[in-house]
Amino acid sequence: MSGGSTGVYHTPVLAGVVARLAQGARRAVDCTVGGGGHSALILAGGAELLAIDRDPEAIAHARELLSGERARLLTGRFASPEVMSVIRAFHPDFVLLDLGVSARQLEEDRRGFSFRPGVPLDMRMNPFEHSTPTGADLLNSWSEDDLARLFRENADERRARRLARAIVKRRKRRPFALSDDLVGAIREALGPGTGPRDFARIFQALRMAVNREREELEGALPQLLEAMAPGGMMVAISYHSGEDRIVKRYFNEWSRSCICPPGQPVCRCTGIARGVLLTRRPIRPDPEEVAANPRARSAKLRAFRKSDAR
Ligand SMILES: C[S@@+](CC[C@H](N)C(=O)[O-])C[C@H]1O[C@@H](n2cnc3c(N)ncnc32)[C@H](O)[C@@H]1O
Repeated sequence: MSGGSTGVYHTPVLAGVVARLAQGARRAVDCTVGGGGHSALILAGGAELLAIDRDPEAIAHARELLSGERARLLTGRFASPEVMSVIRAFHPDFVLLDLGVSARQLEEDRRGFSFRPGVPLDMRMNPFEHSTPTGADLLNSWSEDDLARLFRENADERRARRLARAIVKRRKRRPFALSDDLVGAIREALGPGTGPRDFARIFQALRMAVNREREELEGALPQLLEAMAPGGMMVAISYHSGEDRIVKRYFNEWSRSCICPPGQPVCRCTGIARGVLLTRRPIRPDPEEVAANPRARSAKLRAFRKSDAR
């Protein structure tokens, strides 16, 4: 399997790390099965697998790839109560989160994740969730303030206000429907020097809002820790600095023996670390891989091992 544009995972180097860490696991959960590349490596390591994705197309594809008695597939959001109760009952000793969108989702124009011309601004990871607003819905309905906050927080965009204003002005003439509409607004607001990197950053920010990706991650991590068997390992790969910060914060907090606020004279927390941080610094793809594949550029892998005690 390759990590190039037709590959299933974004970085083969990090996939190798996942395969090594999953060796010896007995019950593994892949919370984001996508194209099934990591899941196949986990199965090859001997584990029983629970593979989850909120995208029904990803599950249908993974079902063909991963069929067998050791694999079970489930459609749903990993932070949803239904999925979490299945994970809890499975009592995994290995949990993987490979966040964001899959290569397949990015490459299928009708799914609406790409800034290629003529692509509908959909961006829902589950297109059958009819109550979930699409990317176009958010651009056509959010206030200028909310749009500015979105681009500042999710895209680190200095000119977020200018972009939000351009969107609100444009949608009065014609509602946003296609990638070209958003690319036009970005060019208008950020100037003629804008290019694919800017489009990718802004489209990613919108996609994260459509799918409430940060909220999913924030909600899931503490529950996944509780669901894991003692001694279990959690591995997270993120492609966005905001998501990486969430993973880093939780893993650091769980590995500290005291989490009382600074200055509190007497320790009131349990005073026992929940486990050990296995990656003081994130593991990154190597430079050749990053040069060959822009999707690998921002990838960061972090790992945590839950203590044997509980
Ligand atoms: C980067 S891809 C995973 C690629 C996969 N590791 C592979 O080897 O092909 C991320 C996948 O996670 C799914 N996903 C993202 N957020 C999710 C969530 N909250 N619950 C379940 N699946 C999610 C997406 O639909 C996508 O298929």
